[in-house]
Amino acid sequence: MTDRIMIVDDEPNFLRMLEFTLQSEGYEVVTAETGREGIEKIQAAQPHLAILDVSLPDISGIELCEHLRQDPKTVDIPVIMLSARSQTYDKIKGLRAGSDEYVTKPIDPEEIVARVEALLSRSRHLRQSSAASMKKGKIFAFMGSTGGVGATTVALNIAAALSQRSPDTAIIEYRPYTGTTALQLGMTPERTLGDLLALETDDITHQHLDRHLSTHASGMRVLCASQSPQEYRELLPDHTESILQGLAEIMDYSILDLPSIPLAVLPTVLQHCHVLSCVIEPEPISLACAKNLMQLLQAWGNTPIRVVLVNHGRSSSSLSLSEVKRQLNCEILGVMTPAAELCVKACNTQTPVVLSHPNSLAANALLEMTDRLVEEHVMALA
Ligand SMILES: Nc1ncnc2c1ncn2[C@@H]1O[C@H](COP(=O)(O)OP(=O)(O)OP(=O)(O)O)[C@@H](O)[C@H]1O
Ligand SMILES: [Mg+2]
Repeated sequence: MTDRIMIVDDEPNFLRMLEFTLQSEGYEVVTAETGREGIEKIQAAQPHLAILDVSLPDISGIELCEHLRQDPKTVDIPVIMLSARSQTYDKIKGLRAGSDEYVTKPIDPEEIVARVEALLSRSRHLRQSSAASMKKGKIFAFMGSTGGVGATTVALNIAAALSQRSPDTAIIEYRPYTGTTALQLGMTPERTLGDLLALETDDITHQHLDRHLSTHASGMRVLCASQSPQEYRELLPDHTESILQGLAEIMDYSILDLPSIPLAVLPTVLQHCHVLSCVIEPEPISLACAKNLMQLLQAWGNTPIRVVLVNHGRSSSSLSLSEVKRQLNCEILGVMTPAAELCVKACNTQTPVVLSHPNSLAANALLEMTDRLVEEHVMALA
């Protein structure tokens, strides 16, 4: 079936050029020169993708996009917004209105074709995954026994390792506002968990979830928390339910990086995750906090709990593995060896250690943990 593309733009020459470009690529094209004509034609033609100019003579492209997102029949149509303005504020406005891409004029026809192809292919893939209903992906959570133990480092590396096995792997920074994920990956996310939490739970569809996941250079999908304290958003049980259920339906692996302070929604998180790994440093204070945390986790759910030890190499009172095992009475998922320098390099190159230094001791330890996590889960289900 030929994909149908709607273009709404009031510059006739530009419209013809884009129409011709897309038709020569084999697409069926429908055009309109005003916002209202666009709405009517979109309702009638039900296009697979829409390209909207921001400045239209009647209603703006942004309003048109908002209109599409409010109508269940058009809510999932991928939208590319075109504008002569390149200011970040305009771009954010366009993305907030629900557009998938924001392209500044003058445009390169090849770039538009590439963006159209990528969006259509993702949208097709999502439709198929909804139809193949409902893929039950695994959710693995990581939580430090105290702050700064290395939970994000472990979670990011395990997500990066899993993303090499399946492109449908996401790391989710599940906290009310920013942690270190964006910094560690060198990303400036256009959409965040905060934007997703601002939606009504019914609007958290597969398409919306996908749209909020940024893509790291490695291919790993990333959902960062809100990037500023002003955008602090409480994590609520109903939203958590919709987000985690949706992720399990579209992703093979979702890695949750949880803050070390137990969230009020932790019981809901536990209901959805397959394994929660408590990340600790092998030293007495971290261990004491881990004991408390594990009691709480056991009281709040019956999700399997594992322990990950991160050896920062900074404590002279480092406890042995058997001592940690004995005191916590819990399975150990693995031990990350001291790797301060590699961690710094990973941050500088914005690439997790398992990808940047796959043959290092630390990467080996993390890759073993990844295998164990996946295999254990398979065994638990068998
Ligand atoms: N194996 C390791 N050896 C040495 N340093 C490490 C190791 N793993 C992580 N680090 C470093 O420890 C610091 C804290 O790591 P990270 O941000 O992953 O911790 P966290 O538990 O997620 O912290 P937060 O509580 O802020 O979320 C970082 O500087 C990181 O580079
Ligand atoms: Mg962290």
